[in-house]
Amino acid sequence: MFLSFQRFFNFGVDFGSMNYRHTIEYQLFDNRLSLSIDDAELVDAAESAMANAYAPYSGFSVGAALRLSNGSVVRGSNQENIAYPSGLCAERVALFYAGSAFPDEHVETLCIVAQGDLIPESQLLSPCGGCRQVMSETERRQNRPFRVILVNQDGRVLIFNSAHDLLPLAFGSI
Ligand code: THU
Repeated sequence: MFLSFQRFFNFGVDFGSMNYRHTIEYQLFDNRLSLSIDDAELVDAAESAMANAYAPYSGFSVGAALRLSNGSVVRGSNQENIAYPSGLCAERVALFYAGSAFPDEHVETLCIVAQGDLIPESQLLSPCGGCRQVMSETERRQNRPFRVILVNQDGRVLIFNSAHDLLPLAFGSI
């Protein structure tokens, strides 16, 4: 107390400060064999979505599948265009479709898979920043977090409890 009183005198207005820490916890599995039946089904759905990717320019196919509160599974895949920025990522295709077709349901889990040489097999496959922003706003909109399952090309699986963990301090989050 006394210290902050002194600072007030020394530096004018004391806005005060706090230290914050973001801690991210996630599960890491060597392969999908340890997943629950529901999660394994979602991985299968994401893989079937990936088969519909239109990725002639990058050669990198991405599939996303999300489970909604009514049990529906919505799929999306990346859709590219010769005018490159006109294409859209798999995650956003799935999330925007879910928002337009099922506006009253909330997303419970989103699973993302991908395949291609763009990312080496041993490297983490994780969503781009634009998709994280959309994932973050989906959580804010539905007022609850959803789980995110990432499946690497080498088979490892990462499970996050919330999209927020992938983009703390997202634009518009506080
Ligand atoms: N892509 C996705 O679908 N999701 C991501 O999170 C990152 C990238 C797509 C976009 C493009 O069609 C291809 O992968 C290569 O970047």
